[in-house]
Amino acid sequence: MSAKSPDYPCNFVIFGATGNLSVLKLMPALYHLEAAQRLPDALTFIAFARREWGQDEWRAFMEQALRDKLKERFKDEIFARFAARFSYFLGELHDLDAYHRLVDTLSKPKSGTCTNSVFYLAIKPAEFPAVIKNLSEVGLNRPRGMHRVVVEKPFGQDIESAQLLNELLHHHFNEEQIFRIDHYLGKETVQNLLVFRFANTLIEPLWNRNFIDHVQITVAEDVGIERRADYYDKAGALRDMLQNHLMQLLTVVAMEPPPALEADALRDEKVKVLRSIRPISRRAVHAHAFRAQYAGGIVDGEQVPGYQDEPGVEKDSVTETFVAAKFYIDNWRWRGVPFYLRTGKRLEKQTSLIAIRFRHPPQQLFRETPLQTIDPNWILLSIQPSESMHMEVHVKQPGLGMNTRIVQLNASYRKTHEEPLEAYETLLLDVIEGDRTLFIRFDEVEWSWRVVDPILKYWEQERDFIHTYPAGSWGLHEANRLFDSEDQEWRNEL
Ligand code: BG6
Repeated sequence: MSAKSPDYPCNFVIFGATGNLSVLKLMPALYHLEAAQRLPDALTFIAFARREWGQDEWRAFMEQALRDKLKERFKDEIFARFAARFSYFLGELHDLDAYHRLVDTLSKPKSGTCTNSVFYLAIKPAEFPAVIKNLSEVGLNRPRGMHRVVVEKPFGQDIESAQLLNELLHHHFNEEQIFRIDHYLGKETVQNLLVFRFANTLIEPLWNRNFIDHVQITVAEDVGIERRADYYDKAGALRDMLQNHLMQLLTVVAMEPPPALEADALRDEKVKVLRSIRPISRRAVHAHAFRAQYAGGIVDGEQVPGYQDEPGVEKDSVTETFVAAKFYIDNWRWRGVPFYLRTGKRLEKQTSLIAIRFRHPPQQLFRETPLQTIDPNWILLSIQPSESMHMEVHVKQPGLGMNTRIVQLNASYRKTHEEPLEAYETLLLDVIEGDRTLFIRFDEVEWSWRVVDPILKYWEQERDFIHTYPAGSWGLHEANRLFDSEDQEWRNEL
């Protein structure tokens, strides 16, 4: 593909190119875009990192990482094309000289006269300010040539630091240049939720407090913190996952239909949801949120260490690796319907699931099946690893009696020959093409922090104890204390 728009960037600088995010998410996604021939011809990548490497070491490192991740999807000829776009750039994030050298490199593009650049901050949040200031100091913030900056989550540590980071960004870049990324919005099954809700007249009339008993959003991971203690021990599950990914899922489940599928129309609706979430008072934190940390245990048949024994974690750390929380959205559609959100590391298996439980039928018609034992209907939207939709409905049990039983209507999202897309593929292409629809506006970030801030503040003061759960389990029974009624329970699987 050739660069169609004059605004297309031809330089894509990845700060933190040798880090986890870059290796596990960005490189594979960019490789897939290369394979699909979706990268503009003129696009080159600059891998900014501080390891004392030359081009060859970088290339060998990237090749190994991609082989490990992609397995049989790795192809030599595609890698050769992809690797040819890269230059390794040795630099320290805090060293202004490195940015002067970067200006030189960027001013000599391999082809044509284009100098548009993307700066991707695949680095620890604590490093964002230094990079933003240094880019600006050497003039790489100018909208001339349309430079874009991509900021990863978590955006800030709490509401105050998020506001400061935003002010800093706005001091140096225009809003049109800023791409705040939450990769959950790039997942096709999450986008499919919009289609499921707003393209099916069947669903929308039921999607409210009259029919829905409660909503559960679970993002369970079986992995631990994977060499990220430095970041994770200061963040914890609430900041790492719930404030951003799970809150975004909540907004997509709960929002009103936007007037158009445009960036701002969509964001306006999401912000309305966040603004309607009932604030949690200090006294109510215990009833609304639960945290825990993994102890040693067995995952996939292998013994794994507890969180405090992970390299780099403080021995008496009370950082949560599991969080469950309950929110109410006080608007006409949702008032009184609890939204239970839950996420954790080192749980029994990797599963992201949105589970919608409907109310019990109001009348006991089937005598043999007492009302209290009639299981309610569920709609289950599985985001990963299975990408599917399931509906649980009652049918008559075959036989002479008039009993009911549940059957599942299952629909796989993807047909067998359709390749899955990585969330980052969609989002990186959007950055390159300048489409901000799936990126976050600051008021979303801010309202989302406002919602979780009381929990954060409360937990910060309670630093002497944290519950633990065995790695490889589904967490702890104590998380059930959030439920409003006894017939509610966590839905772990399809
Ligand atoms: C990241 C978190 O944003 O999302 C990680 O920082 C987490 O801790 C990851 O593992 C999960 O993403 P996915 O796409 O694998 O569900």
